[in-house]
Amino acid sequence: MRSTRRVSVWPVAFVGGLRYEAPRVNAAGKVVGWKTVFDPHRPFAIDMAGFAVNLRLILQRSQAYFKLRGVKGGYQESSLLRELVTLSDLEPKAANCTKVRPRGTNSPDAGFPRPAKPSLQVGDGK
Ligand SMILES: *[C@@H]1O[C@H](CO)[C@@H](O)[C@H](O)[C@H]1NC(C)=O
Repeated sequence: MRSTRRVSVWPVAFVGGLRYEAPRVNAAGKVVGWKTVFDPHRPFAIDMAGFAVNLRLILQRSQAYFKLRGVKGGYQESSLLRELVTLSDLEPKAANCTKVRPRGTNSPDAGFPRPAKPSLQVGDGK
């Protein structure tokens, strides 16, 4: 996320009734669509847990707004992102969106066992 120049994207587990949703990335490393079941023709068919925006871009685009009202369900993310980027501007993270890392904000506890003891792992920030 830290290396996001404009808007970066990655897969999100356990959203939209799927094991994961993900951006579709072509052989050239460009986002060309979405692996999702719910309305895949949304301009940005992505969960809010699946992208990061560079703060500088938000500050430059003062009209960009995450619309909660007056927007069809599932189109809130698109309401913001369409003011900031086009599909081809998106920066795929997580090895060209082949790795699934975070969970959605509304993910149910899918019954995965929790570690017996909390363990802290320090990553390399990539
Ligand atoms: C993503 O895909 C591009 C284009 O094929 C490639 O150059 C790049 O190395 C890939 N990145 C990763 C992390 O796999």
